[in-house]
Amino acid sequence: MLNDIKEVLVSEKEIEEIVDRIAGQINEDYKDKNLLLLCILKGSVCFMADLMKKITLPCAIDFMVAKSYYAGTESKGEIKIYKDVDVDISEYDVLIIEDIFDSGRTLNLLVNKLSQRNPRSLECCSLLDKPERRDPDINLELKYVGKAVPDEFVVGYGLDYDEAYRNLPFVGVLKREVYEN
Ligand code: IMP
Ligand code: MG
Repeated sequence: MLNDIKEVLVSEKEIEEIVDRIAGQINEDYKDKNLLLLCILKGSVCFMADLMKKITLPCAIDFMVAKSYYAGTESKGEIKIYKDVDVDISEYDVLIIEDIFDSGRTLNLLVNKLSQRNPRSLECCSLLDKPERRDPDINLELKYVGKAVPDEFVVGYGLDYDEAYRNLPFVGVLKREVYEN
C-alpha cells in the first residue's frame, strides 16, 4: 500500500494540529448552541472520530451517505441520499464534517437539501480543500478548513481510491500509475 504513495501531503502530526485547532474554534463558536456533528460517510470517518473527541461541548452526532450526479455540463446536478440522518435537524446547529472540498458540488447540493429542513444553523467543516478544482458556479463558504492541497489525487485518513487506502494514518498523493493503468 505504501508503495503506491508518491508523497505524504499531511502527516499524522499535522493532522493532529489541524484537529486541535478546528476543535478549539468549534468549542468557542458553539458554546451556546445545540451542536450536531454530521459526518459524511465514508471519507470523513477518521476526521470525525478524531475531531469529536476534542470537542468539549455537549453534542450529538449523526451520519449521512450521499452521492451527487450530473447528467450534463448544463445540469445543476442532483443529490441522492443513501443514508439519511436519524433526527429532526430543526432542533440543531448542524455542522457538516467532510473529507475534501473538491469541485464543491456535492457539499453544495447537500447544504441546499438540508437547508430546506430548517436547521437552527448550518455550516461546513472540511479537512481538505482543493481550491483549483472548484466549480466556478459554487459560492459555498466553509466555516472551517483544515488545509488547502494542490490539484492531485489524495488518499488516506478516510479518503479512498476505489475503496482502498482509507486506513492510511496520513494523507498522501497517489502515484499516477496506480489509477492511470
Ligand atoms: P466534489 O463534489 O467534487 O467536491 O467531491 C467531493 C467528494 O469527491 C469528496 O467527498 C471525496 O469523496 C471525493 N474526492 C474528491 N477529491 C478526492 C481526492 O483527491 N481523493 C479522494 N477522494 C476525492
Ligand atoms: Mg470517495
